[in-house]
Amino acid sequence: MCGIVGYIGPKPAVPYLLDGLKRLEYRGYDSAGVALLGEHGLQVLKTVGKVSQLSLKVSRARSEHVGFGHTRWATHGVPSEANAHPHLSADGKIALIHNGIIENYQPLREELKSEGVLFRSETDTEVLVHLIARHYHGDLAEAVRIALGLISGAYGICVLHQNEPDRIVVAKMGSPLLIGLGADESFIASDQQALVGHSDRFIVLEDGEMAVVRATDVSVFTVDMQPVEREAIELAEELERIDQGDYAHFMLKEIFEQPRTISDAFAGRLLPEEGGVRLGGIAPVIDRLKACKRLILTACGTSWHAALVGEYILEDMLRIPVEVEYASEFRYRNPVIDEDCCVIAISQSGETADTLAAMKEAKRKGALVLGICNRVGSAIARESHAGVYLHAGPEIGVASTKAFTSQLVVLILLAVHMGRLRNLGYNHGRQVVDELRALPGRVQEILDSSEHIRAIAEKLAGHNNALYLGRGPFFPVALEGALKLKEISYIHAEGYPAAEMKHGPIALIDENMPVIVIAPRDDNYDKVISNIQEVRARRGKVVVVATRADTKLAELADEIILIPEAQPITLPILAAIPLQLMAYYTAVKRGCDVDQPRNLAKSVTVE
Ligand code: AGP
Repeated sequence: MCGIVGYIGPKPAVPYLLDGLKRLEYRGYDSAGVALLGEHGLQVLKTVGKVSQLSLKVSRARSEHVGFGHTRWATHGVPSEANAHPHLSADGKIALIHNGIIENYQPLREELKSEGVLFRSETDTEVLVHLIARHYHGDLAEAVRIALGLISGAYGICVLHQNEPDRIVVAKMGSPLLIGLGADESFIASDQQALVGHSDRFIVLEDGEMAVVRATDVSVFTVDMQPVEREAIELAEELERIDQGDYAHFMLKEIFEQPRTISDAFAGRLLPEEGGVRLGGIAPVIDRLKACKRLILTACGTSWHAALVGEYILEDMLRIPVEVEYASEFRYRNPVIDEDCCVIAISQSGETADTLAAMKEAKRKGALVLGICNRVGSAIARESHAGVYLHAGPEIGVASTKAFTSQLVVLILLAVHMGRLRNLGYNHGRQVVDELRALPGRVQEILDSSEHIRAIAEKLAGHNNALYLGRGPFFPVALEGALKLKEISYIHAEGYPAAEMKHGPIALIDENMPVIVIAPRDDNYDKVISNIQEVRARRGKVVVVATRADTKLAELADEIILIPEAQPITLPILAAIPLQLMAYYTAVKRGCDVDQPRNLAKSVTVE
């Protein structure tokens, strides 16, 4: 989604604006722009493309001490300079940047046009800057407040007026906005990442709140002008300065970080001597959790795949019904929920609008709502009754990798925790704890075979379609492998239950269709072998992810990727690693932008 940064203080604004936009660029990146305000009035500079192109333009701008910047992920209107933010009022005295969607922009656009307003862009956002101009009579905050009362939808906005150079007015509804506090300067950001190295304390704006941000003070109030006292929060220490290290891409770094991030996901949480785990984040709701009779896991994208794997784990250990829902569907489905139900939202960013909305719907219906997310202090973390953090560190690559495996670890921890409150015995709990402790080393073994996986992936790069098959918890892993491939290499890939292939997709199989099959030596192994034979009988090319090679497999598979033997509960995590690497190396071979694939954004904060 869009990135927002702002600065007001004694220093030149541009260095923070560009540094902040660069840090947020992975969130959305089809165009960018800045507005700068000084004694010579407002300057607005915009560009299609990335922050690096903007930097070239801004280097020629006047040095000012007040300004804001924006990276756009297009929702209304193509990526173009005209549609890039900031947007200006007709008289050029008001500049605005916006993250979110104004749902009633069409009638407002027509109304403004009938008043003679000439629109310069196709965006929904431009409607808002003209509404503010219409209601400006010398008080920018008041004009913003009135204009916001006329729109519906989600917004995180920053507004400047040429006549009020000592302040930036901000407002928030549904799209994250933070205000970093300095000794004699203030920073604005849509994500904590932008504040790293500039401010270590920040205020979170909540929905329906505005603020007048000055260099030495910030006044927060509701849109109906009620003052708000808001404590500042310390910047989460895990927000290490983001760097790629020696890796060609953030995604590769994050794949190779997984032995550590998986270890961090269970660090301090294992109680081997009790055959259990400790999850401090859910202690306040443990009684409700113990009593709940049904679980609903809700998420989007890769996190939804983690939820699907979690369904197998939780249902097996807890013996209560576990359902998985797309968050975007759940929130509109009028689900049957009562106080015996626990809804678990899973999200890496903690800002996904659909997941956040699903949580609010579940809370409204009386459910206990837990959050499993990576970003400390994120909207989903704050919306949860309680939750568990992944501790995976910032995930910059748009294609989620380390967060996925950490989500699976946390779901295993949750299953043991809840299971030991019910019928899960010491021995079973202890076995899982021991499995988790062995997991980082097994993941490292797979990473050590990355060159073998790369050679296989580079053969895949020449294809335009691929099919991923798996059974049981390896079906969602197949879905995840397919999503990884399609989102960074643009190859059309589908994940399917292996048994389902013969009910249709088998029509796609020929010598041009690579089929990646996850075939660990588990109870389904013989059936999966039959599925592989069905593929081979139609000349399909078969890549098998297996825990043990044998002569039969060697006869059937064109390529075999071995993963270490392990208990069923951790095998889905192991099986995901080679699929992540395959997607990465295929995309690199195809010359794709691995960390910032076209059309995508890291955090989808709009519906
Ligand atoms: C995963 O590789 C994608 N980037 C995307 O599907 C992502 O998982 C989805 O948007 C959910 O994001 P979240 O985990 O931050 O909520």
